[in-house]
Amino acid sequence: MDESFAPPAAFQAQARVSGIAAYQKLYAEALAHPEAFWGDLARRQLDWLQPFTRVLDWDSPHAQWFADGKINACYNCVDRHLAGWRRNKAAILWEGENFEQRILTYQELHRKVAKFANALKKLGYRAGDRAIIYLPMIPEAAIAMLACARIGLIHSVVFAGFSAEALKTRIDDLEATLVITADAGRRRGREILLKRNVDAALADCPGVRRCIVYQHLGAGIEMKPERDLWWNDLMFGSSEVCPAEALPSEHPLYVLYTSGTTGKPKGVVHTTAGYLLQSQMSMQWVFDLREEDIYWCTADIGWVTGHSYIIYGPLAAGATTLMYEGAPDWPEPDRFWRIIEKYRVNLFYTSPTAIRSFIRQGDSWPQKHDLSSLRLLGSVGEPINPAAWKWYHETIGGGRCPIVDTWWQTETGSILIAPLPGAVAAKPGSATLPLPGIVPDVVDAAGQPVPAGQQGFLILRQPWPSMFRTLYRDDERFRENYWARFPGAYFTGDAARRDADGYYWVLGRVDDVINVSGHRLSTMEVESAMVRHPAVAEAAAVGRPHELKGQALVVFATVKGHVQRSPELAEELRGWVGQEIGGFARPDEIRLVEALPKTRSGKIMRRLLRELVTSARVAGDTTTLEDYAVILQLSQQGKEEEELLQKSE
Ligand code: PRX
Repeated sequence: MDESFAPPAAFQAQARVSGIAAYQKLYAEALAHPEAFWGDLARRQLDWLQPFTRVLDWDSPHAQWFADGKINACYNCVDRHLAGWRRNKAAILWEGENFEQRILTYQELHRKVAKFANALKKLGYRAGDRAIIYLPMIPEAAIAMLACARIGLIHSVVFAGFSAEALKTRIDDLEATLVITADAGRRRGREILLKRNVDAALADCPGVRRCIVYQHLGAGIEMKPERDLWWNDLMFGSSEVCPAEALPSEHPLYVLYTSGTTGKPKGVVHTTAGYLLQSQMSMQWVFDLREEDIYWCTADIGWVTGHSYIIYGPLAAGATTLMYEGAPDWPEPDRFWRIIEKYRVNLFYTSPTAIRSFIRQGDSWPQKHDLSSLRLLGSVGEPINPAAWKWYHETIGGGRCPIVDTWWQTETGSILIAPLPGAVAAKPGSATLPLPGIVPDVVDAAGQPVPAGQQGFLILRQPWPSMFRTLYRDDERFRENYWARFPGAYFTGDAARRDADGYYWVLGRVDDVINVSGHRLSTMEVESAMVRHPAVAEAAAVGRPHELKGQALVVFATVKGHVQRSPELAEELRGWVGQEIGGFARPDEIRLVEALPKTRSGKIMRRLLRELVTSARVAGDTTTLEDYAVILQLSQQGKEEEELLQKSE
């Protein structure tokens, strides 16, 4: 029997959805009458600039939600809170890495967003144009996103840890005409020169007309007079009156690039009304948000979690959302706990990787701080191991806070499987039950549901409002990647099992995507970066279990004829990948080998390599292996390395 933690009585007593029967009722209602369910919520929870009459147009795999309505995401996140006392409520609490503080009330946020939106309009930008946002974790990131949304510019936030090369790929794919950036960002006391990366990327992007630069650190940068503009100059004198545009529900709100099974990142397209509805509803259902809460999600704005759970979800719900600029362990490993104590944070949402690194640093760090304001804890990005769950529960939550383990993806837009904290008992390691309106299933390769307890593929059988609508300029790939394998259903790419209580246990990816510290990496993307190096002939990237990061990245590579294999070259290649994609993609290990195992048709057998790095031996079926000696040799090399390591320890 898996251990189970019922909702704490005190929490349940005041929860929005209280008790399992209330959850079941809600779920049954949504299942029986999905259109009535979502339509009713959309009418009550969102402010419409033109009411909709149709809820769902479903022409699988294409969905349109509330298609004939008009709405504005920025209006729903900001303007509508100005009518009453909320206008003086803190919308964004910002803490800089060096302990600086900024507080933006809803009214002040509105003023800044409206001014910036007007400035964009003055530069000639219009609904449908595409803007890249490449900013550190500062309020201007939120302002830029909301200003784009206000006038219908489609934004694509690129994580500030991405390299110039990765940035350029995204600018090109999006055919963006605007880039919004800062001189520099901060990470553990170091300056990251963002504008310099933008300059490198834009050297060969003639489509970008303008680059707006926010001066954050006063780093010395070059401005190109024809193209570059200072944020503050634009804001100065810009009018504060800028009505939010009435946009169709299905107007694209943003494109977010994520890794897939090919070398090219895919642009996940989210539209306006459905996305906003579900990200806001999950704030209420999953985080049980209350008016007076201080809510903190530690994700970066460059990932989907930052979009849905720092900006759009919390602001649509009228929450106070905290934004922290820096690293969790800066200047000391208790930074997160210091922030929780300082701002009296009530709802805290972070990743299993972060939790595991806190465990390693020792209990003395959280114990120094008063964490009694915490009411609920969340986890996202990867499966959380029960030991980490329990530590989180006891050491951070003081045994009194429910934990919501939230399963979702860039593509799903918002949380789909998670316990409603006042209703559903948690089992450490399981994301538990689907939210209302979500119909998952676990199936075998033929698409047949597997019995309880058995592993299979996780699919979703019904469309949901915050689902992504397509891949930017690649609808074919959208159909093939997600909808072709199990006709009529959405394939998540995850393996899962469902237990006898109907609880979902997500086990990890079944495709060539690996999850390093909760960041999705495509093995193909890493391999493409590797072979761009002049010394590399072929490369194969695989994941191996890692105590802290969930998975670590190991790359096997062969070198070109004239090149010598050496530890120095391996080290250089690690740096190369970091430079090509971004520091977070730097492989944990590179093994330069004589040959890679291949099938008779010449396909690299990653499965064998995966086994090799996981168990240091290969037991799988090798009948399709062209040259068994290669594997023997690889595992021999692994063993020798291991022996060497052991000796050196
Ligand atoms: O494998 C699942 C894992 O992260 C993948 C989605 O990654 P990404 O699109 O980058 O979004 C991350 C933030 C939502 C999923 O396919 N994943 C995410 N959350 C969980 C999870 N695996 C297990 N449990 C979770 N709570």
